[in-house]
Amino acid sequence: MKKRDILLLLVGLMIIGILLMAPEESTSPVPKDENHARFYGIVKAKGKKAAEKFCLDCHNDDGVPFPPEHPPKGRCLFCHKVILK
Ligand code: HEC
Ligand code: HEC
Repeated sequence: MKKRDILLLLVGLMIIGILLMAPEESTSPVPKDENHARFYGIVKAKGKKAAEKFCLDCHNDDGVPFPPEHPPKGRCLFCHKVILK
């Protein structure tokens, strides 16, 4: 093997390693219950941004509070997936 081939092999292995190290999808998806059912339709018809406007109606300190360690919550649906099937 040439030196360049070995280098290429190492770079390839490194990329695979980084991909394997990525955290698995662990954030809870948007539930498919009567509270959230309409968002599945809104996301399908108008996209995520249109649906997200309503999340804070219920998800606030007076309604369904966030866990104290919740990350910044600008775009709910970037992290909490709406699973369209
Ligand atoms: C009509 C009120 C209401 C609206 C609007 C609403 N939610 Fe909820 N949500 C709830 C309630 C109540 C719960 C807790 C019980 C449950 O799991 O349904 C909940 C739970 C959740 C959970 C946690 C599920 C779990 O596995 O524990 C996530 C994630 C969530 N909502 C995301 C969203 C997002 C994103 C939106 C906006 C697209 C949204 N919700 C809009 C009422 C609402
Ligand atoms: C940067 C990513 C991110 C964004 C944006 C985000 N969340 Fe979360 N959310 C998380 C993580 C991580 C957790 C805790 C781990 C988990 O899902 O169980 C969490 C937990 C929750 C929970 C508690 C239920 C549970 O399963 O622990 C609710 C409810 C929730 N988020 C709703 C929302 C809503 C509503 C928005 C938009 C206003 C939002 N989140 C935006 C990442 C995010």
